[in-house]
Parts: sequence; structure tokens; C-alpha cells
Amino acid sequence: MSRISELLAAMTLEEKIGQLVMVSLGAETIVTGPKAAQEPSVADVRAGRVGSALNLVGRDRIHALQKVAIEESRLKIPLLFGLDVVHGYFTNAPAPLGETAAFRPDLWEKTARLAAEEACDDGIHLTFAPMLDCARDPRWGRIVEGPGEDPTVGRAFARAKVRGFQGDDPASPWSLAATAKHFAAYGAATAGRDYASAEISERTLHEVYLPAFEAAVKTGCLAIMPAFSDIAGRPVTGDRRLLTELVRERWGFEGIYVSDYDAIGELVAHGVAADMAEAAALALKAGMDLDMESRAYPDGLKVALDRGLVSLELIDATVARVLCVKERLGLFDAPFGRGDPNRPAPSTRLDRRAIVREAAIASLTLLSNRDGLLPLASTGGRVAVIGPFAEDTAQMIGPWCGLGDQDEIVTIRQGLTAAFPTRELVFARGCAPDYVEDDADEEKDTALIAEAVALAATAEVIVLVLGEPAELSGEAASRADPTLTGRQAELADRVLALGRPTVILMTCGRPLIETDLLERADATLVAWYPGSEGGHAIADVLAGSRAPAGRLPVSWPIAIGQIPVFFGERPSGRPYVPGEHFTTQYLDIPNAPLFPFGHGLSYTTFEIEPPIVSAATFRAAEGLRLSTRVRNAGERAGSTTVYLFARDVVASTSRPLLELKRFETLELASGETREIVFALGAGDFELLGPDLAPCCEPGRFDLSVGFSADRAGLKTISVELRADPVVA
Ligand code: GLC
Repeated sequence: MSRISELLAAMTLEEKIGQLVMVSLGAETIVTGPKAAQEPSVADVRAGRVGSALNLVGRDRIHALQKVAIEESRLKIPLLFGLDVVHGYFTNAPAPLGETAAFRPDLWEKTARLAAEEACDDGIHLTFAPMLDCARDPRWGRIVEGPGEDPTVGRAFARAKVRGFQGDDPASPWSLAATAKHFAAYGAATAGRDYASAEISERTLHEVYLPAFEAAVKTGCLAIMPAFSDIAGRPVTGDRRLLTELVRERWGFEGIYVSDYDAIGELVAHGVAADMAEAAALALKAGMDLDMESRAYPDGLKVALDRGLVSLELIDATVARVLCVKERLGLFDAPFGRGDPNRPAPSTRLDRRAIVREAAIASLTLLSNRDGLLPLASTGGRVAVIGPFAEDTAQMIGPWCGLGDQDEIVTIRQGLTAAFPTRELVFARGCAPDYVEDDADEEKDTALIAEAVALAATAEVIVLVLGEPAELSGEAASRADPTLTGRQAELADRVLALGRPTVILMTCGRPLIETDLLERADATLVAWYPGSEGGHAIADVLAGSRAPAGRLPVSWPIAIGQIPVFFGERPSGRPYVPGEHFTTQYLDIPNAPLFPFGHGLSYTTFEIEPPIVSAATFRAAEGLRLSTRVRNAGERAGSTTVYLFARDVVASTSRPLLELKRFETLELASGETREIVFALGAGDFELLGPDLAPCCEPGRFDLSVGFSADRAGLKTISVELRADPVVA
């Protein structure tokens, strides 16, 4: 009999339910949910009423509680410890939306690996990451946590992060179980308001919001966290059709579902359960394994059993899945393995500071650079650095930063001071970063603005350090007016009015819609939340020792009224035609975003040749090779990202104007030309048919390559997918 079967045979009902309970501890350090964390007594652990915990940090504290479970509980079942290790534990990489801007799966995997090593070293077993929610609405604060607007990017991000966190052997003391979250369509929240219903079609769910999660499952993620929200009235936490029939039975998911914080109990608020017993029953029957902090399982499952809403067999099957993941993580054989000072060193000792600095440099996105203002010369006249974030450490690491080691964060001021040792730098705060609360704040800001403008007027070059305070980004941080906060816009307006060469340096977790300011600035560099080495990375780019390489992972709207604006929209029956009144358009602004997906400048220029294909007509099974050549036409080395889009011109359903199929980032020396070859297979020409099953429909496909989703800049070739011969 297997260890798990033996345990199940020996467990009481209370011990079985205990294995399905995850509680939030360590409230004095980290609280990530609506209720004060329930500090279960050690007695709960000793009695087997708790099987997992989150938010407890520190190897000694984790090991001490594990010791109670292993030595003092009746069946000695190890606890599972989880934490949100999203973009670093002590050492932070850029926040995920910024890291996505690098379009570097190799870096995405490396930063996950280093986060895993730091977290495992502290005794953590599982991370609630990667967050894979596609997002096209900058009003939604959690856009910062995910891989942007496109499902193909989401798939690549999922694969890289799961591999990076988990490594090759989940039982290794250096493997951190990955949790793909928040399944699914959480980013489609109505009006960008966090937790709100996702009103999307079944087709959009499958074409846009599911692919990244399927990639995570296929890469072997050990956990999935369903979203708080409902999709067209079906709360995902209680949706058996998705959690079990699709993900377990069709995709082959073999891990566990960890509910989001309090989400099972919130099925009552959703109005699909009358009480905690019904909520527990609905979630358990849907396939939900761990109840994070809602008390529905500990308080409602036995009642549900007594009412006949669930069976003991179902409870046993659920407990077995949880015990199986604990076994796969090696917790039975080595409950103290993660954090054991005597364990073998990781296979590769990573230079963490170098990796997060590289990730930050690769993520910095240069939106504009009029007359080549950047990079700034190492010598020259005074540089005025104006704005509220130049010395702000929290602004470098953003939300969901784990234990982000504040002492180890390089600020913008520190970075610039190190990078420009002989050039005079002067600094002024300019205004508070956040909303003005009262008259006193108002007066203080008025003085700060005046002082900053006066200082800026003495400078040869001005760097405006603006952005969105990190605490206004992330969960429960939806903003109907995603623009600069406080009086930053006023400060920027008055500094720009001086007419001196001015760079806007934007630290933010979403596109901030400030079209007038961005158009007036001579250069705009988006730093996102660049991580622990953010100051050095920014200075590397401003000083020109490194070139910016980031590309927008989300379209940058011209106006809030454009939201959602994204490249993958369908043509409609009246596609926009300039000058044609009865076509899809606004009367007051263009349809196009201010900056398109993929936009980002370097310190050199690149050219791309029209694509060449291996065959003008082909069958799906034969596949197709498409090649193009990219040239660095400038004086400096630099990197660029090439995107391959497809347009299925005629199909059984209206297809998006552009579908991203591949992307590749490459570094080219000045004058260097390189060929890129994309091998396309049947899957690249599939669509979901009327029944949402993948199928290949013969017909014309326009294949386009370019440096962004701006269709005017793409080089296109048409090919013909032929029908497969009918087998007699
Ligand atoms: C939060 C978040 C989720 C996180 C969880 C545990 O509410 O929605 O992303 O992993 O709780 O902290």
C-alpha cells in the first residue's frame, strides 16, 4: 500500500479536512487578504487541523512549525509553506509587466530561478506565481503583475517562469512549486475594477485568457490558483467545467488548486452558495483542493458531508492530491530540506545582482528620443533631476516584492550619481508623489514645485522622475483615471514650459495616460518598477553605457476613452478607412494607441527585409519556414525584438487583424545583418472552429514581420494554406 493510501486509511475526517486548509500566518510581516490573518495555535497544527500555511517567512519560524507537525502530530504529515514570490524574494527583478517588456524568456527563467533559490533557502516550498492574467485595461491595477496583452507572450512567460521556479526536480531543496494564477480571465474585470465580473465570450476566453495557463500546465506547474471573479456569472472557484473537465481531464493537470484568499467562502457573496457548507461543497465538487483562509472547508465541509452535499470518497480523492504534491515536493522525505544548511548547493550559483540588473536594463522602454537627446553625455552642464521618486526605494521594487531587501535597493539618485561622477547633478522633489490630502499638503507642494522649477531653469538638461506610487499598483488598486498622481502633472507641465531639453523617466506598473506631457518631452523612458538594481540600470541607459531594449507588452492608450485598446482586435464589417465617415472610429481621437504593442527605441536603428517563405502554398502538416533579415543600420550596437504576426484573411469566424505567432529578441553590432528563421507548424494556422475545437481551415494567410504591432511598419507576404487531401 502506498504511503498516501496508508495515510488516508489512518486519517480521521478532521485530519483529512485539515489537509485542505491553508492559513495565513506571520500577519506582522505580510498580510495579503481582507481578514486579519487567523493565527492558528500550534495546537491546530499538532491536531492536524491545518495542512498548509502562507505568509510565514524566516527559515527558523518555518522549521519550528514544521517540527511541530513532524514530531508532535499524530500522523506526522509535513506542512506546505507558500508565499507570493512573484518577482523576487530578497533580490527583486523588475515587476512582471516590466520584465515582460524585455521579451527575453531566458531572462524570465533566470530571475525565477534566483527567486526560487532565495525563497527555498528560507524554507519556502511554493510560490503563488507566475501571474498569467492577460490584461488590456490599464485601469486594472493588477496589469502590473502579468505578461501584458497578448496570449502568445503569456504562453512564453508561463513556460519560462514555471521552468525557472520549479527547475528539473520538484523534490530538490532548490525547487519552488509554481502556481499559475489567477485562472482565468481575471484581467477582463468589468471596467477595470478589480474582482468584478468578466463579461467575455467563450471564444475570447479560449483564444485570449486560457493559453498561458495551458502552457503552464503543459510545463508541469504543480499548482493553479483560480481567480476570485466570475466569468459570465460562473465563479471560477466553483466551476467544475473549467477546473476539472477542461484543466484536469483535457489538459492533464496533475497538481492542486489553491484557492485565492477567502475565495471559497466568497462563493456566498457571489450568490451561488447559501452558506459556507454549500460554498465548500461547490468548490470541492469543482475540484478545488486547498481553502486559503476562508474557513469554508474547516467549518463547512463536515456539514456538507452530513447534508449529503459531498461524499467521503470525494474528500479522500482531494486529500490524496494534496498529499501527492507534498510527496512530489519531497516534504515527507525531507521536511526541512528547503533551508537545510547542510543540503547540497544549487547547481549554479547565480550572480543575483547582475541578473536583476540585466533584467532591468532589458526592460527599460524608450518611447521617444527627439533629436537623440539620450544618452546624456558624461560631461557637460548641470543636470536637474526633478520629481518625487529619485530617492524612493519602494518605487524601485513595486508591489508583490516579497521581502524586497530595502537596504539592497539602488535608487535613481544613487545610480545617476555613480554613473555621472564628474557631471553636476542637482535634485529637487518637486511635489509629493501621491494625492493631495489637505491645504497643508497643497501649500507644501506649491512651494516644492516653485523650488523645483527654479532649479530646473538653471540646468542644461532636466530629468523628470515621475510615476505611479508603488502602493497604487497591484491588487485592489484599480484607477478610473490612470494618470500621474498628486500634482506631478502640474510640476511636469511647468518644467516642460521652460523649454529646456527634458527627459521624462516614468516608474509605473501600467501605461499612465499623459499624452500631452509625453508629446512635449524630448525623451520618455519607461522604467516600470525596475527592481533592486533599478537605479544602476536606469543610469546605465541614461548614460549610454547600455542601450534601452524594452518593448511595450501592452498598447499605450492616447486617452482613457480608448480603453481597451490592443492590437488583436477583429476588423468589424466597417474597418477604419481614413476619411470614410461610416467606418469604425472616434470623432475626437485616432483609433491607434499613442504607442503600439512592441514599441520601443534603441540608440541605434534597425531595418527589416520583407519575409521569404519556403512555399507559397502548403499543407498544414508540411509546415512552413519564414525567414527575414534584420540589419543594425546605426552606429551603435543594440538589441531589437522582431515580431511575426499572422492574419487569417477568410475563416469561419472573423479573425483578429493581427495574431502574434512568434517573437525573437536579438543583439546586433553596428552594421551587422542577421537572418531569422521561424518554423511554423500546423498549430500556428489553427483557429477555434464554431465548436471551439482547434481546426485548420484552408485559405490565405498574410504573414507579417516587424518591430511592433504598428501595421504601417510591417513587411507582409501572403501564403495559401491548402486543404489536406480527402482520405478516401
Ligand atoms: C491575494 C492575491 C493572490 C495572492 C494571494 C495570497 O489576494 O489575489 O494573488 O497569491 O492573495 O497572498
